[in-house]
This record gives sequence, C-alpha cells and structure tokens, in this order.
Amino acid sequence: MSRGPFNLLIDMLAAASLLTMVATGYVLRFPLPPATNRTHVLWGLSRHEWGTIHSWASLVLLLILVIHVVLHWDWIVTMIRHRFTCFQGGGADGGKHAGLLTLAVLFTLAGLFALATHLGVRQRAVPLHPLNEPPDHAAFSTASPRKGKVDFWKEVMPVFQASCITCHGPTRQTSGFRADQREDFFSSRNGAPLVVPGDSAGSRLLNILSGKQPAMKTAAAHRLPPDEILLLKTWIDSGADWPAR
Ligand code: HEC
Repeated sequence: MSRGPFNLLIDMLAAASLLTMVATGYVLRFPLPPATNRTHVLWGLSRHEWGTIHSWASLVLLLILVIHVVLHWDWIVTMIRHRFTCFQGGGADGGKHAGLLTLAVLFTLAGLFALATHLGVRQRAVPLHPLNEPPDHAAFSTASPRKGKVDFWKEVMPVFQASCITCHGPTRQTSGFRADQREDFFSSRNGAPLVVPGDSAGSRLLNILSGKQPAMKTAAAHRLPPDEILLLKTWIDSGADWPAR
C-alpha cells in the first residue's frame, strides 16, 4: 500500500476512536453518572462496561497517534530543524536528536505519571456511602418472615407517617429529604439511592433504619423496631411498589 491511502486509513481510525471516546464520555457523564453502576444499564451495558470501552478507545487513539508520529517522522525532524536555529549547527542529526529528546521527555513523564498514580491511591478513612455494609440481619431474625406482597399505602406509608414525617415532610425537610415523596427514595442521594427495588441488601434505607450508618450523627434516632424493618425489607425485595394513589 502506498503512503496516501494508509495515511487516510490511520486518520479515519483516529477519528473513529476519538468519536467513540466522546460518545462514551457523554454516557459516563450524563445518562449513567457515577453511582449508577449497580442499579442502571444502557442498552444492556453497565456504567463500568461503558467505562471499559471508553478506556480502550483512548488506548487505541494513543496507539494511532504514535503511528501517525512515526509516519511523519521526517517531516517533524525537518520542522524542528527549521524552527530551532540552535539545532541547525548539527544539520539533519540535530533535528533527529531533538525529536528523540522530545520522545524521551514524553516517555519519562508518562512513566512518572503511572508511578505517581499507583503510589497515590489511598483507602478512605470513612467510605463515602456504606453500601458494602450489610444491613443488620440479626435485627430481622427476631420477627417471623412475612410472605406475599406488601400493601404500600396500607402498611409502608403509615410507618413513614408515624416515624419520619415530622422531620422529613411537608413542614420540615431535614437533609433535603421528604419521606412522603417517591423520587426521594429512588433517586440517587449521597452517592446512591435509598431504595434499590428488589435488592434490600443494597438499599441504604435499611442501613439507616437499623442504626448501621455510622457516619450519621442521628443514627440512633433513626432506628426502627425489627418488625417494621422486616416489613420494609419485604417491601423492597418484592419490588418496592409505590403505586400512584
Ligand atoms: C427527629 C427528627 C428526625 C426523624 C423523626 C427522622 N429523621 Fe432522618 N434525619 C434527621 C436529621 C437531623 C438528619 C441529618 C443527618 C445526620 O444526622 O447526619 C436526617 C437524615 C436523614 C437522611 C439522609 C441521610 C442520607 O444518608 O441520605 C435520610 C435518608 C433520613 N434521615 C431518613 C429518615 C427516615 C426514613 C425516617 C423515618 C423512619 C427519619 N429519617 C426520621 C432527623 C430525623
């Protein structure tokens, strides 16, 4: 293959990987923002899977740019020789040396960056949200398990009415949370939604209400009796139905 079509192919591959990067970057920023990996998919792929495509596309782009630089090496050497008179004394060799020096600096910087990122990772003193901490299952075992569907308006809402509405209702919205509004339970807050339908272990609500959210100043005040927690657990595991009234 002559140089011309090959250059065109390289440029088209570069454009394709750049567009893939931009498109997947958009997906990771807007439709699937952070903390949606466990709960949402787009066209069958989770946030982490989109992230994998994103990073492979950026690696492919990097590779293509390296090939591009190699293909245009003579041109780059000539440019450097013309621009920087200090290398003119060395003739063609001066330009080559300057090009190699540039590459060496870039590789050193990349190596230092990789080293710094590997050494720089730290474990948080307090995890951002205690998603990995299982709810207090001991609290559930004291009550007998319930079978069947829970009636949201007859059983669940009365619990919220009795225990939460004074601080999280129409008059006061402590922490910006309302226990009488559906979206406040299912949309992401503090990094994850309170309720993940069908997944009580992954639902922060049960952590909070069994007193297991240690970062919370009012953790003790949020404790509910075991039978009410069990009711909420059954409600969540059976799909967290919140029908319109
Ligand atoms: C006496 C007032 C009071 C009552 C009653 C109360 N809360 Fe809270 N709640 C608070 C306060 C104060 C905070 C601030 C968070 C903290 O303490 O760190 C809060 C925070 C929260 C948060 C935000 C924490 C987060 O991680 O997103 C949620 C969710 C919450 N409460 C749910 C409930 C639910 C559900 C009930 C009922 C079972 C309830 N609360 C009952 C006072 C109350």
